[in-house]
Amino acid sequence: MLSKEDLISGELLVEGRLVDASNATLFGRVLTSDKSSFAVVYKPIAGERALWDFADGNLASREVASYLISEIGQFNCVPLTVMRDGPFGMGAVQQWIDLSQDLDLIAIGQQSIPAIRNIALFDVVINNTDRKFGHILPISDSEILGCDHGLTFHEEFKLRTVLWQYAGQQLVEDEIKKLAALKVRIGGDSLAAFEELITKDEIDSLLERIDMLISEGFPYPSEQWPAVPWPPV
Ligand SMILES: Nc1ncnc2c1ncn2[C@@H]1O[C@H](COP(=O)(O)OP(=O)(O)O)[C@@H](O)[C@H]1O
Ligand SMILES: [Mg+2]
Repeated sequence: MLSKEDLISGELLVEGRLVDASNATLFGRVLTSDKSSFAVVYKPIAGERALWDFADGNLASREVASYLISEIGQFNCVPLTVMRDGPFGMGAVQQWIDLSQDLDLIAIGQQSIPAIRNIALFDVVINNTDRKFGHILPISDSEILGCDHGLTFHEEFKLRTVLWQYAGQQLVEDEIKKLAALKVRIGGDSLAAFEELITKDEIDSLLERIDMLISEGFPYPSEQWPAVPWPPV
């Protein structure tokens, strides 16, 4: 298994570029000290295209902050992701998840199953503006991960997703407990880590979204902005 330490310190080799990706999203390998090799996605900060609505910081930091939320919030829905140096400078490096080629991502994403609900809830927390069907990574029916979390944590609520099947639903007790614990950690032992990755205002908005989820449940699609990303896959 790939450890966080190995992902940070292993030798990073770039092998190619993901063609359907919008920024410089590279495919490569990390070679660990015991000579194992793991496929990774490497998104160098230097390759990020300027986005008018994400002026602060960089997208790689948002990828890492999303991973942190996934871990400390017990969503466990983001592959191991770290910030590190590489052949094109500092960037986000994420473990590659091998999937079978014949998965119907649209059909899987439209289901109402716990693993999809988990991602839908995670997306509200991180304020994901780009949850496409192609950004879900189904390992099995019960374990579904997600990728492409660079367009997240904006201080204005901008949720844009294909996973609207839970709109208006209240959270169950377990979800509320998880979110309450997550909020304590964001404001406590993980605060310094978030402060390195996103702005103070974005941290405040993150905490407000968690309160909103606990009191109001899953939001409805906005009429003020496109609530589904285009293209949806
Ligand atoms: N960690 C990963 N494991 C498996 N596939 C991935 C992973 N990260 C990205 N991909 C695949 O590569 C595609 C492009 O990556 P993405 O993160 O969406 O790049 P971009 O930010 O440029 O849109 C994704 O839609 C997905 O199919
Ligand atoms: Mg993408």
